[in-house]
Amino acid sequence: MPTLPFQIERYIVKQLACEEEPATIAEDIQSKFLREVDAKTVQAYAPERDEEVLPPELRDLHQYTRNEYLGEEDEEEEDRTFVSVATTDEVKEGTIHCVDVNENTVVLVERDGGYAAFDSRCTHQGGSLCDGELSDDTITCPLHGAEFDLDTGEPAAPPAVEAVNTYDLRVENDDIEVKV
Ligand code: FES
Repeated sequence: MPTLPFQIERYIVKQLACEEEPATIAEDIQSKFLREVDAKTVQAYAPERDEEVLPPELRDLHQYTRNEYLGEEDEEEEDRTFVSVATTDEVKEGTIHCVDVNENTVVLVERDGGYAAFDSRCTHQGGSLCDGELSDDTITCPLHGAEFDLDTGEPAAPPAVEAVNTYDLRVENDDIEVKV
């Protein structure tokens, strides 16, 4: 199975759980994440396949989408909408771009030709990741040095033990939109 960024793998699993066609998902990925992914690659993640073929980090998500995502959380999901938060010109490679969305500050970073979005508040003691330091795959909190994975929001180094909230994201023309 090809290696894809976790954000894209997660998107594929979610969309397949919603019974979208692989070809449609592949087109979505190309428009939302600016990345070439074909229907055959998407098919490799199909929920009806034995879970053992999924990368280990996706097995829990697979269960989640099968058991929960299609059920109780559907209504909540329907209430959420994509809102434009920045233009692609504003989010440059290697820089941290922060925007206020509703009552949260959201961090936007460029990722491998696409983008990632997550809450700015560090889950350790609330340090601002807007003032953090970027490396290839992580952002480091300025207060006590916790690191978070840019794609998943999961802690990559202590003292934080909880993930920062991440946002579904898409690019429409030159607008970056996050789902809130
Ligand atoms: S507040 Fe971020 S590491 Fe402590």
